Amino acid sequence: MTKKILIIGSSGQIGTELVLKLRQIYGNENVIASDIRKGNYEVMESGPFELLDVTNKDDIHEVVKKHNIKQVYLMAAMLSAIAEISPQRAWNLNMNSLFNILDLARDKIIDRIFWPSSIAVFGPDTPRIKTPQVTIIKPATVYGISKLAGENWCSYYSKKYDIDVRTIRYPGIISYKTIPGGGTTDYAVEIFYEAIKNNSYMSFLSKNTTLPMMYMDDAIEATIQLMQSDAIHKYTAYNIAAISFSPGELALAIKKYIPNFTMHYKTDSRQKIADSWPESIDDSQANIDWNWKATIGLDALVKSMLQGLHYNF
Ligand code: SER
Repeated sequence: MTKKILIIGSSGQIGTELVLKLRQIYGNENVIASDIRKGNYEVMESGPFELLDVTNKDDIHEVVKKHNIKQVYLMAAMLSAIAEISPQRAWNLNMNSLFNILDLARDKIIDRIFWPSSIAVFGPDTPRIKTPQVTIIKPATVYGISKLAGENWCSYYSKKYDIDVRTIRYPGIISYKTIPGGGTTDYAVEIFYEAIKNNSYMSFLSKNTTLPMMYMDDAIEATIQLMQSDAIHKYTAYNIAAISFSPGELALAIKKYIPNFTMHYKTDSRQKIADSWPESIDDSQANIDWNWKATIGLDALVKSMLQGLHYNF
């Protein structure tokens, strides 16, 4: 029987595109999508889907057994802005889901895990420019605290139970197939919808708030490369980087294609979260260990987003 892959959180922003790419590589029937809600039409139509609550250990066991799952990508999580509103719920979801999957590896039921971390692990004491992979890591958000705790638990399980768990610290991810929900970097996706619809956008981050960002194709590439690599150090939460830009710079890049576009600014509580995160990331370790290098810059990202959203220019 073929070893199969389970994506948990397949209706989310990254999960959606991960399923589609993995199905291209490993075959539709070998990649099982799962989420607490149904998602993207392409995902639902192209292969198996299971309705699954990731906090329910027994249900996960059942799905894993039913499909002979050997690899799990755990993409379900509550993001930074929403987590500030419901700290306890965020902690429970982000942590319990991880334990459920780590335990499957400890019990040798599955043999590889992908678990995403985030630039949110870094806090106000961290160097903000070209933030190194190993540095002062004291997150200032509920989401960041859960991601840092998760990194530590992955490291613990990896050493204590000799399991294979792999982690990337994602920057803000930009894509058009599925919108992100509840994150601080979401402005950089919303802006495209509003630019096309209304020729204007009200940014909830200030004009000069620079954050590390990445186009979805690069993020998917990095994820799959890491999972396929034989050269990684276990356990390492890898920094990855592509581009850094501010709302002001993104607005200018969009104006090139939509000349009438105007940007306005009205910051809210998300500004404080963004202010605690790095401006740019040093990903040299990922480059050394598994040859990682991003390929999509700001102009290509803008063009691809507008094309993806069927804007004619
Ligand atoms: N994009 C995420 C957020 O804004 C960061 O990991 O919450």
